[in-house]
Amino acid sequence: MTGDLMLPARHRVSHRWPETADCATIRLEPLRDPLPAFAPGQFTMLYAPGVGEVAISISGDPSTVDGTVVQTIRNVGAVSRALSQARPGSVLGVRGPYGTGWDLDSAAGRDLVIVAGGVGLAPLRPIVLGALARRAAYGRVVLIAGARTPADFLFGDQLTGWAGNPDLEVHLTVDRPAAGWSGPVGFVTEPLASLDLDPARTTAFLCGPEPMMRFSARVLQRAGVAATDIRVSLERNMKCGVALCGHCQLGELLVCRDGPVVDYSVAEPLLTVPEL
Ligand SMILES: Cc1cc2nc3c(=O)[nH]c(=O)nc-3n(C[C@H](O)[C@H](O)[C@H](O)COP(=O)(O)OP(=O)(O)OC[C@H]3O[C@@H](n4cnc5c(N)ncnc54)[C@H](O)[C@@H]3O)c2cc1C
Ligand code: FES
Repeated sequence: MTGDLMLPARHRVSHRWPETADCATIRLEPLRDPLPAFAPGQFTMLYAPGVGEVAISISGDPSTVDGTVVQTIRNVGAVSRALSQARPGSVLGVRGPYGTGWDLDSAAGRDLVIVAGGVGLAPLRPIVLGALARRAAYGRVVLIAGARTPADFLFGDQLTGWAGNPDLEVHLTVDRPAAGWSGPVGFVTEPLASLDLDPARTTAFLCGPEPMMRFSARVLQRAGVAATDIRVSLERNMKCGVALCGHCQLGELLVCRDGPVVDYSVAEPLLTVPEL
């Protein structure tokens, strides 16, 4: 019946990179068969034995074919703490990949605007890596990332590399002034509003807190970008991850099955529904 869908595959943590004070990236190697290939934007159900299971997006390179899974986890509660603090050598359970992806392929030939708030950069990293790997397939590629403080940016060294890469336009901003930060201060909507976009050829990818996605989508819509060309990643508590339990229901959607990535014409009326 549904047994296999609910059965985590054992994976060993092979590497752990601390990202920020409360966030780490881990790489998982399958002990037996690898998971199927993932699409940027998809998530897994990640199980810390004896603690519990939560949904975590895949933050690694979509071109990786060695069966490893890379995930970036913020420590906000018991399960995410166990996962984000898992040491190399420890064994975790992984189910997936699940859900809809960003569908970068359908944006071929268009300008990409990628807007990340905080840990929202994790599910968007596969898009940046995927776009760089097929750079000629896209027009402008813009990454706007915001964090509470400079120390809260994920993927620090990689962000520095991307900022110096002429193939990408990178705008980093922090919520409040900080010692040693000479860059912009303010929300991601500010650099977003200052982009001189060609709305008819722009596809936008947004991930972060819901207010950040709502305000960013409004800025894009004011610039003329259609709601159907704006993709957002929804976050709801998951239990089964495979459309069985109804836990992630949002309006008529089951976020684990119909999301997490949906276009803004679908998300806009739903983002006012409080999580149960
Ligand atoms: C599709 C999807 C993809 C996700 N991808 C990622 C990812 O890549 N990385 C990641 O770190 N998380 C991700 N999450 C969120 C992650 O699933 C939750 O943070 C996790 O379920 C928290 O579980 P917990 O048991 O550790 O915390 P809980 O014990 O459930 O929560 C502890 C406290 O933290 C608060 N809290 C819970 N979640 C968050 C949050 N996300 N931000 C701030 N406060 C929160 C709760 O309200 C509670 O007060 C994703 C969620 C979904 C649905
Ligand atoms: S998490 Fe069970 S239906 Fe979506």
